[in-house]
Amino acid sequence: MKNKQKTEFGDFQTPIELARKVCSLLSQRGLEPSGILEPSCGKGNFLRACLEFFPDVQNMVGIDINEKYVNVARSAINNLAPETISVEIMHEDFFRVDWANVVKSLPEPLLVIGNPPWVTNAELGSLGSFNLPDKSNYHNHRGIDAITGKSNFDISEWLLNRGLEWISSRRAVLAMLCKTAVARKVLYYAWKTGQHIERADIYCVNASRYFGAAVGACLLVVSASPSDSNFDCQVYSSLKNSAPAMVFGYRQGRLVADIADFERWKHLEGEERYKWRSGIKHDCAKVMELRRDNKSYRNGLGEIVALEDNYLFPMLKSSDIANAHDPLPLRWMLVPQQVIGENTLQIRQVAPETWKYLQRHADLLDRRASSVYRNRPRFSVFGVGNYSFAPWKVAISGFYKKLDFKVVGPCAGKPVVLDDTCYFVGCRTEEEALFIAELLNSEIARDFFSAFIFWDEKRPITLDILRRLDLLLLGQELNVEEAMRKFLDRYPKTYDQPLLFSENVVGS
Ligand SMILES: C[S@@+](CC[C@H](N)C(=O)[O-])C[C@H]1O[C@@H](n2cnc3c(N)ncnc32)[C@H](O)[C@@H]1O
Repeated sequence: MKNKQKTEFGDFQTPIELARKVCSLLSQRGLEPSGILEPSCGKGNFLRACLEFFPDVQNMVGIDINEKYVNVARSAINNLAPETISVEIMHEDFFRVDWANVVKSLPEPLLVIGNPPWVTNAELGSLGSFNLPDKSNYHNHRGIDAITGKSNFDISEWLLNRGLEWISSRRAVLAMLCKTAVARKVLYYAWKTGQHIERADIYCVNASRYFGAAVGACLLVVSASPSDSNFDCQVYSSLKNSAPAMVFGYRQGRLVADIADFERWKHLEGEERYKWRSGIKHDCAKVMELRRDNKSYRNGLGEIVALEDNYLFPMLKSSDIANAHDPLPLRWMLVPQQVIGENTLQIRQVAPETWKYLQRHADLLDRRASSVYRNRPRFSVFGVGNYSFAPWKVAISGFYKKLDFKVVGPCAGKPVVLDDTCYFVGCRTEEEALFIAELLNSEIARDFFSAFIFWDEKRPITLDILRRLDLLLLGQELNVEEAMRKFLDRYPKTYDQPLLFSENVVGS
């Protein structure tokens, strides 16, 4: 119960030692605030540190939903603050506070400081918690984004977005601890919506040391600008570093992870000549992934089953692609469809044993939670198309933190399929796959991709990033344009459209 409450309210109090380090850094940067706002003040450690480091403070407001913490903060601050300072520590829910009035009451220069709760709306949903803003879909994520989980957001993200609104058009600074991924999202949103930012900095913080949390965390410091905007954010390795380790920013409507690499290689951005695809999603490895056992197969439930070959394909997972030099498939995937939405009833005639097997495990397959299977034929998979059966592929894992493209060729006379954590382009011949892999593994291509990859993301390599590199422009840069053009002339545009297995002759 205690743990549930701790998670629900993102209740990880900032140690006073860390609060002091933050205030010391802000003071060294020349900050001399008169007004302080701590919108989720907890036991008040940031308010205490502010009193120690900022002698010009006239007015302080702290808010928290936990009454016990509010009382702890009140007595700590009342003992420390001179009578000349007006202090108000309120027991309120920050989702329901009239923030415009609170912010208006505070003098400038204003410092919005703190450590908002690190909990996502999905975690809150699974706890049955209502500690959420009214409109949880607040960034207008819809459709496919909602299905694929992009609308998952952090509560701190909501509060940080508000914080940037409060400081806008004022002599004000926001300095808050948060997950690094959240800091980037918040900056992206501010840049995208035209908020004026004078300077943005991220100082990495060791979250496991201070909060026992294995997550990339930072202090985000943003100062507002009355008119012009700066679209760069300096990243420092720790609170002590004064020289940035790197600079990311906002260019042409999206986040760029490394401004220097981007400026150098942005001319290679262009058309997606070879179509990037994800592997097949089935969400039921125990049934759909099998290992060969003599002439039969063994599934993840330990059952030995005899299935027809028609729907079975050798498969590779992310770990195989990332770790093996020359990945060799050890598993087989049951792929009941050639294209998304294809009727699966035909399996009954074509492969009766496979049909019986699927029927026997229908309860597990029907229970798959993802909405991509809703209103689809029974036993459907997702991310399947003619490209899934391309005889040769150049593949990469989205999860692993390295840019290493692998060539995947047919195995046992069949095309190898990949799971949905991998990305790939389809090729028709080995020569073509080797050529494309060499291009993608070139130093220039790596630098180009590095311009966009945030390596601390859960899935750092994304389709969106892979699609940006124009292979023809890269071919020009590497003096192999002619060869590239030859392959492109023969590249089957049909890798977008349904093909039958039989048309996809291995090695043709
Ligand atoms: C990560 S802790 C940080 C506390 C404090 N800012 C610090 O740095 O020590 C997050 C705080 O947010 C408070 N909180 C969570 N949900 C809240 C809400 N809806 N309204 C106000 N405070 C909330 C929690 O009680 C908790 O004290």
